[in-house]
Amino acid sequence: MSLYAIGDLHLHFQSELKARSQLKDRVWRNHEEKFRKNCEKMISGDDTLVLVGDHSWGKNLEQCEQDLEYIRDLPGRKILTRGNHDMFWDAKKTNRLNELFRPNLTFLQDSYETYRDYALVGTKGYIFEGPYYLNRYGQIIGWDEEAAEKAKKLVSRELGRLRTSFELAKADGYRRFIMFLHYPPTNILEERSGYTDMAEEYGAEQVIYAHSHGESRFYDSIHGEYRGRRYSLVSGDFLKWKPMKVLD
Ligand SMILES: [Fe+2]
Ligand SMILES: [Fe+2]
Repeated sequence: MSLYAIGDLHLHFQSELKARSQLKDRVWRNHEEKFRKNCEKMISGDDTLVLVGDHSWGKNLEQCEQDLEYIRDLPGRKILTRGNHDMFWDAKKTNRLNELFRPNLTFLQDSYETYRDYALVGTKGYIFEGPYYLNRYGQIIGWDEEAAEKAKKLVSRELGRLRTSFELAKADGYRRFIMFLHYPPTNILEERSGYTDMAEEYGAEQVIYAHSHGESRFYDSIHGEYRGRRYSLVSGDFLKWKPMKVLD
């Protein structure tokens, strides 16, 4: 029995492909096929796979049907968290999605799931991504203050959702946590953030995140051991479509 994670599948069986990199970069060519084959090799029926957002380019549930069917047909138990492109998933209507797809898919929002004696907690997260102003050497010399203020509000809402997830698990007696985000835990200006602080406060052993795809963004945030926990980027293209083993 193992726990795996990956993010940013960006499926588009029924919808318009919006990212140019997905059209031209080799790593994205037939990525659905590569990923399915890797899952079939690595994952068995009693394993769990957490998909950390940006599942589909579809604008609504109808346009995501085949994408969600593809995920449903992967081996193992599947838990999904929200990404910024998941337009089919209104956070407030998560119960409805769970009713529709039970028992094949679990949509995690303002709740937690379990794996052995661990609670799997998480939320989409959010970080300030610019616009940044650069000098002629490509160094950051400033940023859009108004956009930064707006980002602060979204960060605080997501931190609230993350705390809910931790608190529900804690109230049920869980003391070991794996924390899942879609966005990286820090923006490119930060060394630590509300997310890293919360991971430390509750003692999460690992922080798993995605969203940074395309080689130039792979190292935008924390990799490896940092202040007592392990941080891992699991964007599909970074992992070359092999889900990362989180726990045995
Ligand atoms: Fe993405
Ligand atoms: Fe994303």
